[in-house]
Amino acid sequence: MIFAPLSLGLVLLPFVSAAVHDVQVGGAGGKLEYSPEAISAQPGDQVVFHFHAKNHTVTQSSFANPCGLKDGGFESGFMPVPVNQTDNLPTYTITINDTQPVWVFCRQAANTPASHCGQGMVFAVNCGLDGAPNSFTNFKKSALAIGASLSAAAASPTGAPAAQWTTAAYGGLTIPAAPQVTPVTQTITLGSEVWTTTYNSYPGSPGPTPAAAQGVVHRVVVGGPGKLAFDPPSISAQPRDTVVFEFHQKNHTVTQSSFADPCRKLNGGFDSDFVPVPDNVTSDWPTWSLVVNDTAPLWAYCRQKTPASHCGAGMVFAINAVENSERNFTAFQNVAKALNGTAAAQNTAPTTTPANGAISVRMGGAGFALAVAAVVASFF
Ligand SMILES: *[C@@H]1O[C@H](CO)[C@@H](O)[C@H](O)[C@H]1NC(C)=O
Ligand SMILES: *[C@@H]1O[C@H](CO)[C@@H](O)[C@H](O)[C@H]1NC(C)=O
Ligand SMILES: *[C@@H]1O[C@H](CO)[C@@H](O)[C@H](O)[C@H]1NC(C)=O
Ligand SMILES: *[C@@H]1O[C@H](CO)[C@@H](O)[C@H](O)[C@H]1NC(C)=O
Ligand SMILES: *[C@@H]1O[C@H](CO)[C@@H](O)[C@H](O)[C@H]1NC(C)=O
Ligand SMILES: *[C@@H]1O[C@H](CO)[C@@H](O)[C@H](O)[C@H]1NC(C)=O
Ligand SMILES: *[C@@H]1O[C@H](CO)[C@@H](O)[C@H](O)[C@H]1NC(C)=O
Ligand SMILES: *[C@@H]1O[C@H](CO)[C@@H](O)[C@H](O)[C@H]1NC(C)=O
Repeated sequence: MIFAPLSLGLVLLPFVSAAVHDVQVGGAGGKLEYSPEAISAQPGDQVVFHFHAKNHTVTQSSFANPCGLKDGGFESGFMPVPVNQTDNLPTYTITINDTQPVWVFCRQAANTPASHCGQGMVFAVNCGLDGAPNSFTNFKKSALAIGASLSAAAASPTGAPAAQWTTAAYGGLTIPAAPQVTPVTQTITLGSEVWTTTYNSYPGSPGPTPAAAQGVVHRVVVGGPGKLAFDPPSISAQPRDTVVFEFHQKNHTVTQSSFADPCRKLNGGFDSDFVPVPDNVTSDWPTWSLVVNDTAPLWAYCRQKTPASHCGAGMVFAINAVENSERNFTAFQNVAKALNGTAAAQNTAPTTTPANGAISVRMGGAGFALAVAAVVASFF
């Protein structure tokens, strides 16, 4: 059999060495764009970004959140280049590992009307074709929409941002916008103690002053015979408070996640690891403790997937969920069920939840030192 030269070429293609793709970042007239804006690349290929004048970054984001750093994503850092520098431009190189889309934005002036991303400075590798839901056009459109809402917020007298709904990382679910957060530094005086705290303030957030200087202790029961739940499932707590998770029957975890991604571990988040409790245990429950450092909502779940996803069955927990907002506890639990539950779990009516059923007890004289000891496990 004789091969035509063309088919010979195709046969040899897999042995061709990895390609290098050059992308210009910024450039003449201080334009805010990557050029080209979208490329396709094979696993093993390299993309070399050349930074022109101004002060840009190459930062990985996600399709769902074009102007936000992806958890664990790559990031070039800021690359300031003077206007008169036209050669020896700094570069940053990424290697393409697979055929999945890679989304990129410039982090300069993030979350302000001057946001480079919000002005359309985005880039993609292996995105969908035009017409596909994950096309470059749609990605850039949503970056520009973020820019427009940042400008609108700056122009509005209250500074209230237009709500931005996003799409979940998987499962195609729509996620309500996160509240606008303002970091506040405040000096707190409580009895004879004075300290300075920095916390995140947002509509509906609790105050930064704990009920006692040492904080209070909230007890939360994890699991139990026939129960895939945290009890109470939702509490409010202040900085310095301690949450003591008391593990009952089965084999559960308390693992930090995020509102938009309830059943996957948050990068750098807390995790108790699995705490198996045999059926015949009736006292001396093992515990695991967490100190609350901020007023911002904390989202958590049970990581157990055997025999079925506990998180998908609704085994989630929240601290400081804002009940009168779209991001209330029930909404969080519904996201978990929708993303990780079985079809049956998805059809379950939402359970009602007390806003704050926490059992709170004042901590004794152990004081703030207790707060540093994150793990108080007393395994049987
Ligand atoms: C580059 O931008 C970052 C972030 O805005 C800023 O912190 C840094 O000072 C800038 N560098 C120069 C040299 O302008
Ligand atoms: C750019 O301008 C600065 C300040 O005017 C000067 O110090 C520097 O040498 C110039 N650099 C180049 C590459 O011309
Ligand atoms: C490819 O994998 C390396 C090593 O894990 C990682 O540093 C890099 O960011 C990955 N590249 C992309 C485009 O995700
Ligand atoms: C607890 O669950 C984890 C994850 O499913 C498993 O690896 C571990 O063996 C279990 N421990 C016990 C004692 O059942
Ligand atoms: C529970 O049962 C195991 C094995 O049957 C036994 O070794 C253990 O002592 C029992 N524990 C309690 C608290 O009764
Ligand atoms: C609070 O800070 C302590 C000490 O840095 C840390 O161990 C703990 O995980 C933090 N709490 C949360 C909820 O992140
Ligand atoms: C939830 O589903 C995601 C995507 O399939 C998976 O990565 C994750 O491990 C699941 N988590 C749990 C606790 O079921
Ligand atoms: C709480 O969440 C539920 C479920 O998503 C939603 O129907 C309800 O409107 C939310 N409550 C508020 C006050 O937004």
